[in-house]
Amino acid sequence: MLAALPTAEPDPLWALLSTFRQDRRADKIDLVVGVYRDASGQTPVMRAVQDAEAQLASAAASKSYRALSGNTAFNEGMSRLLLGEGAEALDRQCTIQTVGGTGALRILADFIALVSPRATIWNTNPGYVNHRPIMLAAGLAVRPFRWQESETGLDIEAAIADLQDARPGDVIILHGCCHNPTGTDPSAEEWRRLAALCKDRGLIPLIDMAYQGFGDGIEEDAWGLRHFAKELDTVLVAASCSKNMGLYCERTGAAMVIAADNRPLANVRATLERITRANYSMPPEHGAAIAAQLFEDPQTWLAELEASRERVAGIRRDLADALARCGAPEKFQALRRQKGMFSLLPLDLSQMNRLREEFGVYGTANGRINIAGLLPGEVERLARTLRAVSSVSSLVHPIKANA
Ligand SMILES: Cc1ncc(COP(=O)(O)O)c(C=O)c1O
Repeated sequence: MLAALPTAEPDPLWALLSTFRQDRRADKIDLVVGVYRDASGQTPVMRAVQDAEAQLASAAASKSYRALSGNTAFNEGMSRLLLGEGAEALDRQCTIQTVGGTGALRILADFIALVSPRATIWNTNPGYVNHRPIMLAAGLAVRPFRWQESETGLDIEAAIADLQDARPGDVIILHGCCHNPTGTDPSAEEWRRLAALCKDRGLIPLIDMAYQGFGDGIEEDAWGLRHFAKELDTVLVAASCSKNMGLYCERTGAAMVIAADNRPLANVRATLERITRANYSMPPEHGAAIAAQLFEDPQTWLAELEASRERVAGIRRDLADALARCGAPEKFQALRRQKGMFSLLPLDLSQMNRLREEFGVYGTANGRINIAGLLPGEVERLARTLRAVSSVSSLVHPIKANA
């Protein structure tokens, strides 16, 4: 059997991280992996999470099997976080706990493949590196649509032009906020246009909410999703608690299916549970139990999240200011209006390689940097480095192979 095993390339992101670890330069900068870091470069366990864990440990509840849909209090809390307290759509949705946001994406991909196997999945280009492989793994066809900068923000005309080929029943993946990798989010008006497009053309939105709270605020970041939920009969949602609760390794997320009314919900739940049953039976309890505690008394958690959001937004501003001061090309100023942890630098592959090899600055090959990975003392140097690298080549950013 193993003789027939095709050679699998190591994951490029983790391979890059391993190169970073072996790099002996003291002033190297890691802007690769999408985790939040505080001003000392740590990815802290939130205070609110530590308190919840202490309470859970003292209660020492049973570790017996849980429900296939996971932790009920978590599922209810997630649906309110995503749709808003008292939202009308709460009565016509079904939410199950999943193994992180990735698990939610895969369960929804399997759900789509079961219900609508001929649907094409439309994926932003550039896009989150794992969207396409997840959809392909479920046997679905994937096509890209452009998600690029205009002079003022998202080039919505390019996105909509590419989506003209989408057929009724096709699924369009949108990032709820803090688009990965570009940091370019739709304005309210652009969300309205995208929702109208889905409605007119019979497209099903799959909204991936992996960074709620890292853009403009916990409620503000859900505006697009909530608008879609009001306007459309069917919306799929994948959500992650990895970033906004810092529960990365606890693999905590949720998959939600919003329907026109509550009639199909029991069947939707049974179907989602059949899919999880054939994968991993049920999701792990610990992260969801923590999240459920945070939902009960959210103040400390929300204050910590807001502080993290402000730190990232502050670094963004500082970096944009430093780039302006050192005379870097104007196109870098898009960083200022972009949202969340990531931005896509206007640099090509050779420039990204030069950043790494010559200056010890690590971003991904497609130009993505994690703003949250930058320490306050590194901002000026990064700005000067970006200016130096950008003056050599004027190649436009290549279309990413993974998009
Ligand atoms: C857009 C997007 N979706 C989903 C995920 C997956 O999140 P999780 O780590 O919870 O699986 C990520 C993680 O980086 C992401 O950026």
